[in-house]
Amino acid sequence: MGSSVEQNILVTGGAGFIGTHTVVQLLKEGFKVSIIDNLDNSVIEAVDRVRELVGPDLSKKLEFTQGDLRNKGDIEKLFSKQRFDAVIHFAGLKAVGESVGNPRRYFDNNLVGTINLYETMAKHNCKMMVFSSSATVYGQPEKIPCMEDFELKAMNPYGRTKLFLEEIARDIQAAEPEWRIVLLRYFNPVGAHESGRIGEDPKGIPNNLMPYIQQVAVGRLPELNVYGHDYPTEDGSAVRDYIHVMDLADGHIAALRKLFDDPKIGCTAYNLGTGRGTSVLEMVAAFEKASGKKIPIKLCPRRSGDATAVYASTEKAEKELGWKAKYGVEEMCRDQWNWANNNPWGYQKKL
Ligand code: NAD
Ligand code: WQD
Repeated sequence: MGSSVEQNILVTGGAGFIGTHTVVQLLKEGFKVSIIDNLDNSVIEAVDRVRELVGPDLSKKLEFTQGDLRNKGDIEKLFSKQRFDAVIHFAGLKAVGESVGNPRRYFDNNLVGTINLYETMAKHNCKMMVFSSSATVYGQPEKIPCMEDFELKAMNPYGRTKLFLEEIARDIQAAEPEWRIVLLRYFNPVGAHESGRIGEDPKGIPNNLMPYIQQVAVGRLPELNVYGHDYPTEDGSAVRDYIHVMDLADGHIAALRKLFDDPKIGCTAYNLGTGRGTSVLEMVAAFEKASGKKIPIKLCPRRSGDATAVYASTEKAEKELGWKAKYGVEEMCRDQWNWANNNPWGYQKKL
């Protein structure tokens, strides 16, 4: 997109898993990027590796600021020294279990941080936002595939922050129609950049399936607990819509283009998924094939709050954003393994 050259994008949470992959694609597409991240769930090494991946010339178009969205002054400092054309807002806490034990931390970080961001954007007349929502806003869907106009509900405090933030976005845009906001509902992001230099590096024991499998494969964890083997699915394990993080990254570029090109976008939600469901046991088999490693499993009771099967309808994103996921489970596992094999301890240098 020729017109995007030199457009300046603020990326909150840009040092994190989805953020780093998106920043690589943004720079390659000719955008200038400024990251704000408090490094609560990430490390500066990840940003260094983004620079390494895009090379010295494009690196000059990337700025990093360590700052916290809960502190309005940190955001104001950025906006007072440059103009942003749009914001991609990834920054947030995302661990479902932790949110149940400490909801105040989630409401403070995710809600207060985002409200501060809107306030500062409005003050500086930057009114275009791509927001990281989640398939969690469908709760336990009664029907699949999930369509964007399904009833929304939350199952836990983390999910409630996403639901509230979607509602807040809709209210702000309804009151001030010049805002253009795209809400991207990610399904289950996995995989890594094909270089194996950036990837997901959760702190502590992973909550999500793929990072857990990856840590079993490299010997950091002994076996995978498979939560639920009596679901009404083909093999009894739960079904999800896994999506390659590079496809997600490209979905953000498509969403930005939509914001810039469509004055009538208002506040619109899009699913980012593949539209295909894969069971936990199928995912384990695919990872074993990609890695050549045996993943020992233990069949366990269902995890509380988990749905049987969730996958996306991808029609709306295809039609309106012109975006469609390119990668399947095989590539997701190949790239996840490449990242794990090259970085068994994530961004840490050694065991
Ligand atoms: P991540 O934790 O890797 O990245 C989030 C980044 O935000 C981290 O680098 C963290 O340090 C930063 N951050 C958190 N609070 C901040 C604050 N107050 N100020 C500044 N920086 C802050 O997570 P991710 O997987 O890249 O997810 C990005 C976004 O996508 C999140 O909003 C998450 O809720 C959403 N999401 C993720 C998934 C998933 O499974 N990964 C699925 C659906 C939605
Ligand atoms: C997938 C399947 C587990 C770990 C979560 C959030 C959601 C969104 C994406 C942010 C389930 C099973 C898992 C393990 C297992 N995140 N599993 N053993 O629950 O679909 O979605 O991440 O917005 O909000 O809830 O993803 O990767 O945790 O689980 O058997 O050690 O794998 O029970 O069936 P989930 P997940």
